[in-house]
Amino acid sequence: AAVCAASVYIVRRRMQSSGKWARVIEILRVLEEDCATPIGKLRQVADAMTVEMHAGLASEGGSKLKMLISYVDNLPSGEEHGFFYALDLGGTNFRVMRVLLGGKQGRVVKQEAKEVSIPPHLMTSGSDELFNFIAEALANFVATEGEDFHLPEGRQRELGFTFSFPVKQTSLSSGTLIKWTKGFSIEDTVGQDVVGALVKAMERVGLDMNVTALVNDTVGTLAGGRYYNPDVVAAVILGTGTNAAYVERAHAIPKWHGLLPKSGEMVINMEWGNFRSSHLPLTEYDHLLDFDSLNPGEQILEKIISGMYLGEILRRVLLKMADEAAFFGDSVPPKLRIPFIIRTPNMSAMHSDTSPDLKVVGSKLKDILEVPTTSLKMRKVVVSLCDIIASRGARLSAAGIYGILKKLGRDAPKDGETQKSVIAMDGGLFEHYTQFSECMESSLKELLGDEASDSVEVIHSNDGSGVGAALLAASHSQYLDDSET
Ligand code: GLC
Repeated sequence: AAVCAASVYIVRRRMQSSGKWARVIEILRVLEEDCATPIGKLRQVADAMTVEMHAGLASEGGSKLKMLISYVDNLPSGEEHGFFYALDLGGTNFRVMRVLLGGKQGRVVKQEAKEVSIPPHLMTSGSDELFNFIAEALANFVATEGEDFHLPEGRQRELGFTFSFPVKQTSLSSGTLIKWTKGFSIEDTVGQDVVGALVKAMERVGLDMNVTALVNDTVGTLAGGRYYNPDVVAAVILGTGTNAAYVERAHAIPKWHGLLPKSGEMVINMEWGNFRSSHLPLTEYDHLLDFDSLNPGEQILEKIISGMYLGEILRRVLLKMADEAAFFGDSVPPKLRIPFIIRTPNMSAMHSDTSPDLKVVGSKLKDILEVPTTSLKMRKVVVSLCDIIASRGARLSAAGIYGILKKLGRDAPKDGETQKSVIAMDGGLFEHYTQFSECMESSLKELLGDEASDSVEVIHSNDGSGVGAALLAASHSQYLDDSET
C-alpha cells in the first residue's frame, strides 16, 4: 500500500457507514482504489517511461515523449563570467533577472530579479500582446540597472530566455513553439519562432538586447544545478506544470543527425508531462478534467501530478460528494461549481493542517466555497482526499525519476563504484507542498531500495532555471572570443 496515504485508512475505520455518509465513504473508497499506486505499479510506470524515452530518442514523433534536443551540449563549468540578463516565462508569473557572474572564484557575484504576474487574459489572447507585455516589463527592469552591473563600452546586453513550453529548437538560440500547455492558448504563436517574437517585441519597445540562449526551465535548472554540483545528472520541475531534463550520451540519440558534440553529451528536454500509459492510475475525475481542458488528450501525466491541476481534481471530487451525497448539506455550494476555484496552495494548507479540530480546513472551506460551517468529520474527509490526490502525484513523479535513473543505468549501485547521481528539483509544488515533496522522496527511496538510495540525492535548485539561462547565455556569448571578457 502507498506509504504516504496512511491517514485514509484511519478515517475510513472511524466512520460509521450510514445514510449520507455511506455514499461519501463509497466515493472516497472508489477514489482511493482508482488512485492506488502500489510499488509494483510504480515500477511498471517507470519501465514504460524508459521504453518511451528510447522511442522518443529513436525518431521524431516516435513517442508521446518528445525527448526534445536542447542544443545544450556543454553544461556550466563554473568559469562563466560577465553580466547577463535572464527572462523566465512559464507559469502564472514571469521573472526578469540580471546576474553578474564572477568566474571560477566569484560564482554569482550579484543577482537582482523582479517577478511580474501575467494578467490572465494575456494567456489566451494574441501573441503580440503577450510578448509586448513581457518586453515592456523587461525594459522597465533594464531601466533600473545600477552601477554594479557595468556593461563594457559598445556592447550589447545579452539575454538567456527560459521559455517553459515544448519548443522544437533549431539552434541553442532559436526554436518554434510546438504547442502551449498549462492554461496558455495563443494560436498564432504555435509554429512561430519564439525568440523572433520576443526580439520583435523588444524592438517595438526600443530595447536592444541579444537573445543568446533559449532554454526550457528543466534545462535551465539542470544548468544551474550543475554549476554548483558536478554530480547533477537530471532536473525535474514540479510546479504549475511538470517536466524533466537529463544529460544523454549523444550517440544514444538516433534521431540526432548533427555533428557529434565534443563533450559527447546532449541535454534532452523530455516533456514528460505528455507521458501517458495504460499503467497510469486514472479516475473518472481525471477523464472529465482532461475533456474540459484547453488541451484534451494531452499532458495526461501533468494533469495528475502538477500544481495547476491538483486542487481542481479535489474540487471535482468534492462536487461529486456534494451532488450525490449531500456532503455540504441539502444544496451544493454554488462556488464549488467554478472550475479551478480550489488552488493547489489552498489544498496544501488544508492537507498540512495539524490542529486537533482541523481549523485551517474549516476556514479554507469557508473562504473558498462560502460554506459557513463544517463538522470535524467532513474536514477529515477533505484531508483524506488531499492525501489520496497528492500521494498519487508524488509517487508518480518518483516513478518518473526512477525511470530516468534506469535509462541512465544509475538505478542500482555498481560494484566498486561510488558514483553519485543528483537530481536538481524546482517548482512551487516541490518547494511549498511539504507532504507532496516528502512523499515523492520517500517513494523514490522505496523504488531504489536501501543500497541505491545512498547514491541518489534530490536537491532543491532554487530559481536555478533563471541563473541557468544566464549561465548558458554566458557560455554562448557573442563576445566570448573578445579578450576583454
Ligand atoms: C509544462 C511545459 C514544459 C515545462 C513544464 C514545467 O509541462 O510543457 O515545457 O518544462 O511545464 O514548467
